[in-house]
Amino acid sequence: MQKYTKVAEIKDAIAKAKADGKTIGLVPTMGALHEGHLSLIRRAAQENDVVVVSLFVNPIQFNNKEDLAKYPRTVDADLKLIEGVDGTVYVLVPSVEEMYPEPVKDEYHFGPLEEVMEGPQRPGHFSGVAVVVRRLFDIATPDRAYFGEKDYQQLAIIRNLIEQIKYPIEIVACPIVRAEDGLALSSRNMRLSPAARAIAPAIHDTLEQAAEMAEYEDVDDVKEWVMSTLGSFHEVNADQCPDGLKFEPEYFEVVNARTLQPIENWDEAGDDGAVGCIAVWLDGVRLIDIVKF
Ligand code: PAF
Repeated sequence: MQKYTKVAEIKDAIAKAKADGKTIGLVPTMGALHEGHLSLIRRAAQENDVVVVSLFVNPIQFNNKEDLAKYPRTVDADLKLIEGVDGTVYVLVPSVEEMYPEPVKDEYHFGPLEEVMEGPQRPGHFSGVAVVVRRLFDIATPDRAYFGEKDYQQLAIIRNLIEQIKYPIEIVACPIVRAEDGLALSSRNMRLSPAARAIAPAIHDTLEQAAEMAEYEDVDDVKEWVMSTLGSFHEVNADQCPDGLKFEPEYFEVVNARTLQPIENWDEAGDDGAVGCIAVWLDGVRLIDIVKF
């Protein structure tokens, strides 16, 4: 593993690798790595000669200052984890000034893709993601770039970005990695109190039950059931919810898996299939997850 803090230096190393005919796989991250990230890095190492991993908490994709301040930063531990991966890995750990030497003026728009779910809740978020991802594409010039399916809407946005900027990069979608109890791995999980962590798997459990209900219930009924099951969890399970601990579901939307547009009945999704996407607050932490119907 080779660590770089300067963009010019990692670009040189990548240019040399490419001159030797090597393929490049990019894994963009904001650090606080967990098994989910490592699965992306391992896959990239299997499919490419060189893997470029970025550890960069991108300030311009946070529309909430507190969330940015509280985002976990664990660079030393991250580097140790990356060292354990077999393969040639270059890690970029830039400062904000290094990534953005000039004030950022670029803005990206994604039409209907950003008018749903995370879009209205986090104004400017996807444009901020697109700016940093494009910058990373320019730095790494990858053949393939790896993203997790947990951030399902982000994945669709990145695919759209590729079309907008016409970069010949293969976007590889990787399945969610879950803890044994079903909770989707996320850097934010480390901010949960023990009591909150203990009940957090209810999100995945509820989504799995929703997938079973989808066999015989309408879309609207399934949506309502998910919101009310999590919203009333603290009443039904008061013994597991000390000190006002509760789930506060922000949205649960059932959408066409490709267009991300909400569907009203199951047939509407056609061959694309349907996906349920949820955002839930728990213990001051915003968690997201998905279920495929
Ligand atoms: O998914 C993330 O961790 C971030 O949104 C990304 C893609 C690394 C851009 O900062």
